[in-house]
Amino acid sequence: MKNFLTWEQTLFKDREIFEFGHVPDEFLYRELQMKNIGYAIAPGTEGKQPQNIICIGPPGTGKTTSFKKIIDQAEQISSSSLILAYVNCRYTQTHYSVLAEIYKKMTGIEPPTSGIALKKLYEKVAETLAAKNKSMFVILDDADFLILRRIFHDVVNNLLRLHEEYPLNIGLCAVHSVSYPPLDDITSVFIPKIVKFPAYTWDETFDILNRRVKIGLYPNVMETGIIEKISGCAVPKGDIRFGIDLLKRSVINAEMRASKTVDFTDVDNALIEASKDRLKRYLKVFTDTETALLNTASEMGTSHAGELFDEFHKRTKKGYTTFHKALNKLINAKLVDTYIENRGKNGRTRVITVKQPTSG
Ligand SMILES: Nc1ncnc2c1ncn2[C@@H]1O[C@H](COP(=O)(O)OP(=O)(O)OP(=O)(O)O)[C@@H](O)[C@H]1O
Ligand SMILES: [Mg+2]
Repeated sequence: MKNFLTWEQTLFKDREIFEFGHVPDEFLYRELQMKNIGYAIAPGTEGKQPQNIICIGPPGTGKTTSFKKIIDQAEQISSSSLILAYVNCRYTQTHYSVLAEIYKKMTGIEPPTSGIALKKLYEKVAETLAAKNKSMFVILDDADFLILRRIFHDVVNNLLRLHEEYPLNIGLCAVHSVSYPPLDDITSVFIPKIVKFPAYTWDETFDILNRRVKIGLYPNVMETGIIEKISGCAVPKGDIRFGIDLLKRSVINAEMRASKTVDFTDVDNALIEASKDRLKRYLKVFTDTETALLNTASEMGTSHAGELFDEFHKRTKKGYTTFHKALNKLINAKLVDTYIENRGKNGRTRVITVKQPTSG
C-alpha cells in the first residue's frame, strides 16, 4: 500500500498554479512583446498620446498575461499621469458596457446600468479625463468578441475621435486571437502598430510546463517523460493553456486512482476531456456560419477545398468570400490544418484536415 494515496492526500503542492487565471511569477519568452507594448504606452506616462497597437496571436500565447504584468508594473508607479483601462470583451460584450467599464476604471464608480444614453456616457468619460488631465490607454482584450457582435468599428472609432472635441490623449490596444480586425474603414483614426504573439515552440512549451510542475506539484509526482508527452500534445494546438490544463487533469486522474505518480494513461484519459473543453471555449468566438463550416469539415474529415466549399454552400447558401474568411479563422484557431497537394497536370489543390472532430 506504500505507493497509494489515502483519500485526504493530494499530489498538488499548490493547486492554484494550474488555474487559468494564474499569473506566473516567471513569465518567459515574451520579452519582445512586453517591450513593444511598453514603448506604446510610455508616452502616456508623461501625459502624452500613447501609440495605438494591435496584439495578435493564437489563444494561449500569453497576451492577457502580458497585460496583467504591465498593469501590475504601472500600478507601482503611483505618480503616473496615465490611466490604464483594461476591458475584457469576452465578458463585456455591448458598446455601453465596454464604455461603462472604462468609466469605472477611471473613477472607481460604476455608471448607472440604464437610463443614461451612450452619447452622454461618452461625454462623461471625456469630461472626467480632461478634468484629471491624464492620458488614457484602453486595452480591449479578447476584442474578437466585439468583431463578432459587429461593434468593434463603432467602439474604436468613437473612442479615438473623442480628442476632436476634447483636449485628450487616448491610445488604444485591441487584443485578438482568431479574428483579424477589419481596419479598412477606420484606419484614419486607428493606425496601429502590430505586436505578434507567436505560438510557443516545443522547447519553450516544455520549459513553461516543467516550471509549473516544479512549483505546483510534490517532487517525483510527474516524471520528465510525461511532461514531454503533454508538450507534444500542446504544441500542435499552439496553446499553452491546453498543456497546463492537461497537467492538472492528469494529476487529478492519478489522484483518483489513489496513485502517487502520474502515468501515461492518466494523460490519455485527460486528453479527451481537455480537448472537448478547449473546443467549447473556441466555439464561443465563432459565428453560426463559421461553426457550420467547422461541422461540415469535421464530418468530411479530410477534404479538398473545392469539395468543402460545395458542401458548405449547399448547407448555408453562403458564397466563396465568406467561406474563405471562415476557413482562415479556423486555421488561425488551429482547429484545422491545410496543405497544398500537387496534382501533376491537373494543377494544385488545397487539402483541409480537421484536427479535432466537433462531435464525440
Ligand atoms: N510565457 C509564459 N510563461 C508561463 N506561463 C504562461 C506563459 N504564457 C502563457 N502562460 C500561461 O498560459 C495561460 C494562458 O495565457 P494567456 O491567458 O495570457 O493567453 P492569451 O494569449 O491571452 O489567450 P486567449 O487568446 O485565449 O485569451 C495562463 O494561465 C498563463 O499563465
Ligand atoms: Mg487572453
